[in-house]
Amino acid sequence: MVFPNLMNSRVLILCVLVLATRNYQACAFRNYKTWTPSNPNNPKHDETSFRGLCADSITTQGYKCQEFEVITKDGYILSIQRIPEGRSELSSNVTKKETVVIQHGIMMDGSSWFMNSPSQNLPMILADDGFDVWITNTRGSKYSRNHTSLDPSNEKYWDWSWDELVSDEMPAIIDFVFNQTGQKINYLGHSLGTLVALVSLSEGNWINQVKSVALLSPIAYLKNMKTKLGVMSANYVYGKKFTPRDITEFDPKGQRVLDFVDGICNHYGLNCNNLFSALTGENCCLDEAAFVRFMKVEPQPTSNKNVIHIAHIFLSDSLAKFDYGRPHLNRFHYGQPKPPIYDLSNIPNDIPIFMSYGGHDALSDPVDVNKLLSIHFQNHDKGKLSVQFIEEYAHADYMMAVNANELVYKNVSSFFKQKF
Ligand SMILES: *[C@@H]1O[C@H](CO)[C@@H](O)[C@H](O)[C@H]1NC(C)=O
Ligand SMILES: *[C@@H]1O[C@H](CO)[C@@H](O)[C@H](O)[C@H]1NC(C)=O
Ligand SMILES: *[C@@H]1O[C@H](CO)[C@@H](O)[C@H](O)[C@H]1NC(C)=O
Ligand SMILES: *[C@@H]1O[C@H](CO)[C@@H](O)[C@H](O)[C@H]1NC(C)=O
Repeated sequence: MVFPNLMNSRVLILCVLVLATRNYQACAFRNYKTWTPSNPNNPKHDETSFRGLCADSITTQGYKCQEFEVITKDGYILSIQRIPEGRSELSSNVTKKETVVIQHGIMMDGSSWFMNSPSQNLPMILADDGFDVWITNTRGSKYSRNHTSLDPSNEKYWDWSWDELVSDEMPAIIDFVFNQTGQKINYLGHSLGTLVALVSLSEGNWINQVKSVALLSPIAYLKNMKTKLGVMSANYVYGKKFTPRDITEFDPKGQRVLDFVDGICNHYGLNCNNLFSALTGENCCLDEAAFVRFMKVEPQPTSNKNVIHIAHIFLSDSLAKFDYGRPHLNRFHYGQPKPPIYDLSNIPNDIPIFMSYGGHDALSDPVDVNKLLSIHFQNHDKGKLSVQFIEEYAHADYMMAVNANELVYKNVSSFFKQKF
């Protein structure tokens, strides 16, 4: 759950060293330090300057890129980017193309996909492979902090959890992309982006708009997550009554969160020197230079309520709307004393789904993924469910492993091209 004090430079250095050593053994860094992003318009790469993801990470690599604003029902102004074609295409005929929407995980943003070279990162690989690619940025993250009436410094801005990502944010994105392209969408989610997809499908959203769904590091059950820090943080939430004071920003680089993590580490005697691995599992195949770039821009802020709601998944071993902790408050929000349950058995059996999960993933544990599969996908139409298991992969490998193209993205691309 808590990515934080990675940002402390002492910790970062240790972390990179530990990762590098492990990676070297496990994966031999195939493309070790061979690529540095060119950034001609912004040589100093001033992190406070705001230019949009297209200018920061995409056009610099020779791709066309368009920025759009999508306004959600609850007023958030999201920035989303489109890579309409690959680098080698001469004329665009985008209306004919298959559309892909790429949704990152918690405390990430769209830029988390661009740490590696164009031949190694998912959006550019899909664009070069003929897809019309759309990249999302969740509310509260760097490129999506505006709102029609609220400022992020106002606590009310942070009154949401993944419930609202399902009910307000994702429908706005899917409607917008569907209207722009006139094509049914292939959705790809990583981590929390998979939970949003599974719950959206179970709520009957996306019918007639989404053609197929790819889930990398799927999350629906968390009971077996191995990350000690996550488990401790969740246990810390346990038994605490939710109060309006908990409606606030969760900024993993902010002092409040750093103090919280230090407190947890000290209190439980955890060795928090290698937090990144402690949190995501031992990633086999990251490039050290890409990881350093990653640490410059991630992790991104989310809402405290979102983090608490994820802790609830772990603590209750079930998927329900946000639990306000008191019957009268739940009654106020839902008309019943307990929050309504999301029933993943309602996911249509004929929706094409590709899932890939890793043996070393500390968040999306194989036991939990197998539980998801055995409880909710037993009766899924044969031929509409494709499951891949990669023993050596952990959580972040799906986002930026140097061999993710060979192992995962090629399969995703051919899955999205299927006619079903
Ligand atoms: C673009 O696609 C449409 C619909 O398939 C087709 O009729 C048209 O000829 C294409 N245009 C170009 C320039 O390829
Ligand atoms: C944020 O949104 C408001 C309302 O639409 C708009 O007036 C303002 O210019 C936006 N601010 C930025 C920094 O884009
Ligand atoms: C998409 O089109 C539908 C039907 O024309 C319209 O109701 C809806 O508001 C549009 N959504 C967006 C986000 O433009
Ligand atoms: C992934 O691709 C490889 C190589 O093409 C293939 O052998 C394998 O069956 C694919 N796996 C899935 C789950 O699609």
